[in-house]
Amino acid sequence: MKRFHGQYPTHRLRRLRQHPGLRSMVCENRLSVQQLVLPLFVRSGRHLRREVKSMPGVFQLSPDEILHTARQAHSLGIPAILLFGLPDKKDAKASGAYARNGIVQKTVRLLKKEIPGLLVITDVCLCEYMSHGHCGIVRNGKILNDPSVHLLADTALSHAEAGADIVAPSDMMDGRVRAIRQALDHKGLTDVPILSYAAKFASAYYGPFREAAESTPQFGDRRSYQMDPANVGEALREVSLDVQEGADMVMVKPALAYLDVLHQVKSTFGLPTAAYAVSGEYAMIKAAAARGWIDERAVTLESLLAMRRAGADFLITYSAMDVATWIKG
Ligand code: PBG
Ligand code: ZN
Repeated sequence: MKRFHGQYPTHRLRRLRQHPGLRSMVCENRLSVQQLVLPLFVRSGRHLRREVKSMPGVFQLSPDEILHTARQAHSLGIPAILLFGLPDKKDAKASGAYARNGIVQKTVRLLKKEIPGLLVITDVCLCEYMSHGHCGIVRNGKILNDPSVHLLADTALSHAEAGADIVAPSDMMDGRVRAIRQALDHKGLTDVPILSYAAKFASAYYGPFREAAESTPQFGDRRSYQMDPANVGEALREVSLDVQEGADMVMVKPALAYLDVLHQVKSTFGLPTAAYAVSGEYAMIKAAAARGWIDERAVTLESLLAMRRAGADFLITYSAMDVATWIKG
């Protein structure tokens, strides 16, 4: 830790704040378009753009509309999208998640064919595909770990075989990163990185997402697999295990209420670290801005900058397209 000596009036910190050029020279953290990832929700259909009520500006899109939006993101300089799928049918073994012709697999093929320069990250989870909305297999009211891990590995593999550039497991089952790494390597997909949702908390901030992804649990909650918001030591253990299992990049989620976790994860492990500004964070800013209570642009940029300051290398945000426009123009 650096020590600061000296005092006023010799030292005046306002000296370096007198001119915009000077402020920019001594600026410690910046946002840039290259650090943004845009989440997108795909469901079958054509010309479908169904706005999510609690997330103005976010839509469930059919594959053709996904392509259109992805083109826009790509031309703005956004390097990657994060894809979530809504299947036509849900069941008790999440068949749609690992189907060769599932909605995500089809859309990945389309995107990689049409916009090869855009990275496609796929969210790997089962909840959107399960009739009960949980992230794993359920038996007697319990969410089972090991059988779920098999299905998650199948899911990740099917995404990578369709051409996904990066797979991102978000389920919080133990051991899934190792299982996914083995499944990929076994099929020669040794160069597909894993972005692990390593420290994912059981958060009320996911509310609007569950409307977007139609993945609300039909009974109980996710506290038997996602983390207790009170725990930071445990978050470091989660990250440590995922790193040992082969995660190439890790994520902290949600972002704004967990900046301390983000900071510790980055400073402890030094891996490429992502912050996910989740649906509830987005909804709060949108709602207050719609009432004229806050300045949407300023608050969004300040929040994302705070995530960078805390240690995030890249930022997953529903505002990615707006942010790209703001910081370019
Ligand atoms: C599903 C998943 C969730 C989010 C990303 N993947 C929701 C959940 O765990 O209930 C949340 C994203 C957001 O709120 O923006 N495993
Ligand atoms: Zn899930």
